[in-house]
Amino acid sequence: MSEDRLCKFMEVSMTETVLISGAGRGLGLALAGRFLQAGFHVFAGLRRPDQDLAGLGGRFPETLTILPLDVTSMDSMRAAVEQVAARVPALDILINNAGINLEYARGVLDEVDLADTHLEETMAVNVFGPLRLSQQCRPLLARGRLRVIVNVSSEAGSIAGCGRDREFAYCMSKAALNMQTKLLHNALGPQGFRVLSVHPGWVQSDMGGPQATVPLDESAEGIYQLALQERADAEPIYVDYRGNALQW
Ligand SMILES: NC(=O)c1ccc[n+]([C@@H]2O[C@H](COP(=O)([O-])OP(=O)(O)OC[C@H]3O[C@@H](n4cnc5c(N)ncnc54)[C@H](OP(=O)(O)O)[C@@H]3O)[C@@H](O)[C@H]2O)c1
Repeated sequence: MSEDRLCKFMEVSMTETVLISGAGRGLGLALAGRFLQAGFHVFAGLRRPDQDLAGLGGRFPETLTILPLDVTSMDSMRAAVEQVAARVPALDILINNAGINLEYARGVLDEVDLADTHLEETMAVNVFGPLRLSQQCRPLLARGRLRVIVNVSSEAGSIAGCGRDREFAYCMSKAALNMQTKLLHNALGPQGFRVLSVHPGWVQSDMGGPQATVPLDESAEGIYQLALQERADAEPIYVDYRGNALQW
């Protein structure tokens, strides 16, 4: 990210708020830590609320709220957003981070089982979940100062840059998520929103696996900085965690 862009970060006050889905481990947990460190009130959405968040609760007892949140359940999303609304008047940032890439769905065309439900499961978590959660959060975001939605996408969702010949469910889901970002950008941009699709890099999480190259903290830092950038009319909205534009 250029120094110019770094200079444009907005000042963060103690009152700013962020909701992160899938915050129990991996990138979501690293993002929760980064925003807590910056003084945000973090609403950490966890599908399994028994996750301990690596001690963040003890370090930030006042500014961390753990919410049960399964992005495949409308009831769960409504209940989570109601809990946010009960605690704070506005939400500044929503990070749609929860995602799946099912190991058994990575085979070549003749091997992958298209009769099972992995296509539907992947779309439910990676595409429909973010759209539904964004819709639920929009009124709270509209009352916020920053009005940012970050969809954690992937380079795997780039059609122009696609060299793969498999991983149908995951790649198609991230391409659809990118379309969702563009639609929301068109719909909400005039209301002062920024809506971004961000590729976090090949991050060192369970999903990234043992060969992944990008430390979680580095990716979380980049996404944190992107989320806080000032709105600019011509800014690219499909970018990697360093702010480099990606081809749709
Ligand atoms: N890892 C990479 O190299 C890479 C590359 C490009 C993009 N991404 C994207 O980055 C995001 C984070 O991935 P990660 O690497 O941190 O993956 P991860 O380590 O597998 O973590 C995935 C997170 O999503 C949560 N989740 C899954 N299904 C959910 C549901 N139905 N409702 C709520 N939460 C759910 C998981 O919760 P549980 O703990 O309950 O399972 C977990 O917290 C994903 O959107 C992924 O597609 C990752």
